[in-house]
Amino acid sequence: MSTPGSPRRIVLFGATSEIGEQIITRLAAGNDLVLAARRPDALTDLVTACEEAGATRVETVYFDASDCAGQADVIDTIEESGPIDTAIAAFGVLGDQDLAERDGAEVERILHTDFTAQAVLLTDLSARMTARGRGDLVAFSSIAGARVRRPNYVYGSAKAGLDGFCQGMQDALRGTGVRLTVVRPGFVIGRMTEGMDPAPMSVTPDVVAEATVQALTSRRSDVWVPRRLALLARVMPLVPRVLWRRAPR
Ligand SMILES: NC(=O)c1ccc[n+]([C@@H]2O[C@H](COP(=O)([O-])OP(=O)(O)OC[C@H]3O[C@@H](n4cnc5c(N)ncnc54)[C@H](OP(=O)(O)O)[C@@H]3O)[C@@H](O)[C@H]2O)c1
Repeated sequence: MSTPGSPRRIVLFGATSEIGEQIITRLAAGNDLVLAARRPDALTDLVTACEEAGATRVETVYFDASDCAGQADVIDTIEESGPIDTAIAAFGVLGDQDLAERDGAEVERILHTDFTAQAVLLTDLSARMTARGRGDLVAFSSIAGARVRRPNYVYGSAKAGLDGFCQGMQDALRGTGVRLTVVRPGFVIGRMTEGMDPAPMSVTPDVVAEATVQALTSRRSDVWVPRRLALLARVMPLVPRVLWRRAPR
């Protein structure tokens, strides 16, 4: 068991995520890291960056979120070298909305990655952490899930489902010693949104990472990035449907 001052074991699921990379390098100093990705060979630079940032140890592990049945085995493999203190689920796909409107396979890929696989992973992790009475989990919802919009309703509905799941899990975890932090960014200028016009209140991956690390440090469970998106999310449900259906992406 880690004690104050001893290395924490931090796992990044979806370790090639731009936001995830920025988070893990910020958390690296003095900690024991596991980078889990479906392309572990793409992690060489991140491993070096984490070592240079002061990580005590950096491992890489193969992790494909689409294989829900295999997720428990991945966690078991990681925990053979010690229990996970902090797990960050940074994987996700924006998907191709146009394709998804005519091809159920694309709908399945988006919903499976952005909802089912996240919910399964959070459950398998929280069960182990709850048994130990400690642990931190981080999940990424989105403003897209605050009220689903016509132009990205497949991704948006996955995030809406995930957000509801996480809120229920946060309530279920009260008093267990385990905490789930839900980060809800708006439009992030980066790889996931490449080629798209930035929306108002856009941020960059480093801003999301900084807010996530601050939330972990200050034990805040709900984070909007930028913060003023929280107000927008409260107003969005009040917009009449006739106007909402014309909302831009
Ligand atoms: N970017 C935004 O505008 C934005 C806004 C709000 C919320 N978010 C959420 O924030 C999180 C991180 O996003 P990001 O901007 O860092 O995106 P990103 O740079 O595109 O990273 C997404 C990551 O998910 C991984 N991934 C996708 N499917 C996977 C699978 N089946 N198994 C394992 N890994 C898989 C990708 O791996 P590969 O590299 O192998 O493809 C990639 O590393 C996501 O949940 C996203 O939905 C993003």
